[in-house]
Amino acid sequence: MAFAENTEPLTTAAGAPVADNQNSMSAGPRGPLLLQDLWLIEKLAHFDREVIPERRMHAKGSGAFGTFRVTHDITRYTKAAIFSEVGKECEVFARFSTVAGERGAADAERDIRGFAVRFYTEEGNWDVVGNNTPVFFHRDPLKFPDLNRAVKRDPRTNLRNPENNWGYWTNLPEALHQVTIVMSDRGIPKSYRHMHGFGSHTFSFINAEGERHWVKFHFRTQQGIQNLTDEEAANVIAGDRESHGRDLFEAIERGDFPKWTLFVQIMPEADAETYRFHPFDLTKVWSKKDYPLIEVGEFELNRNPDNYFADVEQAAFTPANLVPGISYSPDKMLQGRLFSYGDAARYRLGVNHHQIPVNHPRAAKLVNTYHRDGAMRVDGNQGGVPGVEPNNFGRWAEQPAYAEPAQKIGSTADRFDFREDDDDYFTQPGDLFRLMSTEQQQALFDNTARAIKGARRETVERHIENCTKADPDYGAGVRKACEKFGAL
Ligand code: HEM
Repeated sequence: MAFAENTEPLTTAAGAPVADNQNSMSAGPRGPLLLQDLWLIEKLAHFDREVIPERRMHAKGSGAFGTFRVTHDITRYTKAAIFSEVGKECEVFARFSTVAGERGAADAERDIRGFAVRFYTEEGNWDVVGNNTPVFFHRDPLKFPDLNRAVKRDPRTNLRNPENNWGYWTNLPEALHQVTIVMSDRGIPKSYRHMHGFGSHTFSFINAEGERHWVKFHFRTQQGIQNLTDEEAANVIAGDRESHGRDLFEAIERGDFPKWTLFVQIMPEADAETYRFHPFDLTKVWSKKDYPLIEVGEFELNRNPDNYFADVEQAAFTPANLVPGISYSPDKMLQGRLFSYGDAARYRLGVNHHQIPVNHPRAAKLVNTYHRDGAMRVDGNQGGVPGVEPNNFGRWAEQPAYAEPAQKIGSTADRFDFREDDDDYFTQPGDLFRLMSTEQQQALFDNTARAIKGARRETVERHIENCTKADPDYGAGVRKACEKFGAL
């Protein structure tokens, strides 16, 4: 409901009329205030509690509702009800974000963009909590809090610190693929509408016969890719810190609904054991020649939320929101994330965050948990329904028909060094570099030099060494640009 004029009276939160919203109550016109000014106390006390913690990463973002429609049949790969028929539609909510910036940061920064899409399916909410890049900096979730510190502010100066950032990245050469993408001409999308989205991880599809395939999700923008150079971005930020949010909001308001096409890459389960890249390594992509894109459907965003805080700030996405027929994989990063988002939501919004309308599985035929109580339980708390299972009432029996097929996994429990499994950090960033035009390569060199300037010489040299291992021309180009921009 958009804002409409009305003349209804002002009340307190308890519904009583407020007589005066201009003058607090004092002992005489110049005297101190009185504790009996209940309205002043209520108003200040509410104000004092209005800020909730921002998301630890991806704090700055924008969101909108829309519609997903199936255009191609993929029922041979998944039994998920959302994909059961061509033409089937389901409501979606998407939130796009930058990663490192705080809630008030400028949009047009060089950074990854978050690309989170929730599908309100009849079998529950399915969230793809992805990015605008198909890979990530590392492949073990144990490193994620370190990454956060590397890209956020210096503990002493509270400034962004290129040495914290690049010292970290260059010491983890598996980050080079992601770093190459962020420093490339795609490192600053012109808007949220002009970028692709990727589930990035490997997930699994399970079909009606109980067969598992590994799957990657790709959302390709129908608006076309458009990016900003460093210089263009600086000009945009000087005039508008909310350029992405404004662009998305205004496009939807004028009926120019942005659309993305959903594709999947499908890998037969057994291929994972022999594929030439580690299929669950988040720093790597699957070649499209080996596993071509298969079209599935499209979604458009066609409705701005009426209230930003209610729907966008309170949205709690999690990769653990999975539905029958769509599941996880052994990707270690994904496994870490399966825990972290629900945990973050319980801290940021509370244990009953599922009741917040944007998070509620609104299209699900049933929501029958035995969860009870907790702060802000406002949905009736299941009334007098028994709170235990098994019980004698046949309530809410488990559903073995939805069990996933057994999965073959490794043997010994240990802290395995990923490098012993796959230490090829450089083939894919090198391939990406060689795919770039001369202009794109030059942009990569210059963007890198501008971004790394301020890091210690040994860090810059280490980065050049890593780039050289990917492609000697990559290393040489970055060296020259670093000399030109005074980064060496
Ligand atoms: C937000 C953790 C890796 C995409 C967040 C949040 C946390 C988090 C705690 C804030 C959640 C909230 O308060 O609601 C982690 C951990 C990771 C990881 C522990 C690695 C182990 C990734 C990766 C991607 C990603 C690889 C993309 C492929 C996002 C997005 C958001 C987010 C899009 C914002 C969601 C929204 O719009 O509300 N992450 N993250 N993260 N993360 Fe991650």
